[in-house]
Amino acid sequence: MSFDHFNYKGVRFVKGIHTEESLNHAENEFEVFDDDIYNVTFSKSGTNWMIEILNLIKHKGDVTKTNVTPIFSRSPWYETASFKEREKKLVSPRILTSHLPHHLFAKSYFNSKAKIIYTMRNPRDVMVSLFHFTKILKIYTPAENFQDFLEDFIQGKVSIGSWFDHVKGWMQMKDDDRFLFITYEELLQDLRGSVVRICKFLGQELDDAQIDLVVENSTFKSMKENPMSNWSKAPSELVDQSKGSFLRKGISGDWKNHFTVAQSEYFDKIYQEKMKDLNMSFFWEQSS
Ligand code: A3P
Repeated sequence: MSFDHFNYKGVRFVKGIHTEESLNHAENEFEVFDDDIYNVTFSKSGTNWMIEILNLIKHKGDVTKTNVTPIFSRSPWYETASFKEREKKLVSPRILTSHLPHHLFAKSYFNSKAKIIYTMRNPRDVMVSLFHFTKILKIYTPAENFQDFLEDFIQGKVSIGSWFDHVKGWMQMKDDDRFLFITYEELLQDLRGSVVRICKFLGQELDDAQIDLVVENSTFKSMKENPMSNWSKAPSELVDQSKGSFLRKGISGDWKNHFTVAQSEYFDKIYQEKMKDLNMSFFWEQSS
């Protein structure tokens, strides 16, 4: 896989979508407000799903209020070059998205009371999702084959660099009251329970009927059928809808349809090495 990129402080970014200026602004100048909510992920980990959930929670499940903006511009990525224009139109409490690694995140965040929700996903499924995404997003030249892509992913030669570094960096905050980490797999297994947990973390009091609405409107089926959530409104210069859908499968374990046994063992070995210092265990370590 290749894409027009540049390195910023050791991390690979997409040229045009990000600029040195936008990253410097995000890290050093951007002002975080105490009531901001940040949706932070490594790409393909459930970023848009969390955008949907957080906006529905904000509007007590009322989809007519969230459907006023297509999902990809509803909670903008604050590190992107296009953010400046969007920033002025945001209404507090702001819900913002970011793929930034921990060490490049807004410095002003660390002196604020703002909250972060960090969504993670089995890296094998992240890889598969990204592999397919590179075919529809026009900024990418897809990899020749899955093996090449696997190497790129392991070496952090994808947008936002290394998945391993991203997770390890953000997990430094795991015991911070302002930080909630959740997995894509937990959302899949128990969406209602996850929504309740997120509401509690945010201090949002929704009644049972409102929680039901958040859940109903954020299922894979609802989002896939919702033109404001399924990326069908994404600019054609950016997305080739004929090559696949953004909401592709929405399942856990699709990696089993892509990895050979040898690739799986190889990935396992790298995973063990890279994650050994992080004293945490994740759902996918038992099930892969
Ligand atoms: P797949 O390609 O495996 O289907 P991101 O938003 O971080 O780019 O992640 C995109 C992935 O999240 C895609 O995975 C997409 O289908 C999945 N996704 C988005 N909304 C979802 C939902 N409501 N339920 C399950 N998966 C969802």
